[in-house]
Amino acid sequence: MKGVYHLKLTKKSIEGARIALLPGDPGRVPLIASAVNKVNAKEIAQNREFRSWITRLDQHTILVTSTGIGGPSTSIAVEELATLGVRMFIRLGTTGAIQSYVKAGDVVITSGSVRMDGTSEHYAPLSYPAVSDYYILNALVEAASSLKVRHHVGITASTATFYPAQERVDTFSRYIIRDLAGTKDEWGHLNVLNYEMESATLLTMCNAMGLKAGCITGVISERTKKEKILENFISIAENNAISVAVEAVKRLLKDKQLQSSITSQ
Ligand code: URA
Repeated sequence: MKGVYHLKLTKKSIEGARIALLPGDPGRVPLIASAVNKVNAKEIAQNREFRSWITRLDQHTILVTSTGIGGPSTSIAVEELATLGVRMFIRLGTTGAIQSYVKAGDVVITSGSVRMDGTSEHYAPLSYPAVSDYYILNALVEAASSLKVRHHVGITASTATFYPAQERVDTFSRYIIRDLAGTKDEWGHLNVLNYEMESATLLTMCNAMGLKAGCITGVISERTKKEKILENFISIAENNAISVAVEAVKRLLKDKQLQSSITSQ
């Protein structure tokens, strides 16, 4: 059967999966698939930054595919998965907090994203909002509450670059261009919670194409204090985001109406 070019997947190999969990990092894919269900987890493809595993939850196949970093590779992953029949996408990653009350290890559940990703403009004009699917958002919030994981729900700034657009000056040039200088404080004043690099592309393109998407990220840097990634918090933040996302998927699968809406398309 003909497959998709970058992901090296076919309809047959994804075994009818309608839901995909999307970490950025290929290294996290086995961990996430095993957290969904260790017994059935298996690798089905690996090409460039795109690594895919499937596993099963009751009668459902759950796909885990890495997107790589940023909008361009995320858009490739989502395009190709949608062609194969995937209808619901949950991004699962790491993030830098820009509010002092958002602490390392907490999770941020994105309700909408500031579109600084570049890629999403190829799917809809900038005036179009990058918002989460209501049902996914709700399932993530309920999952975090039930697991007692410290969580924050709100707006994420989704950037095309990790260094200049997130106003990091501990860099080679130490220079931030005028258009970006001062943006971290401004987003903070405007109650934006965090920085990451994939949600605006995912949320915009999914809404534009009639697909469902959401995003949860674990906090690994506290940008109101310093620029550095807090290495000691990476596995805590990742595990918190993974547990919440897996619990949210279980809750979404119990919603029969939602199930039929993603299987009928
Ligand atoms: N991911 C980002 O994009 N920024 C951070 O600070 C941490 C993770």
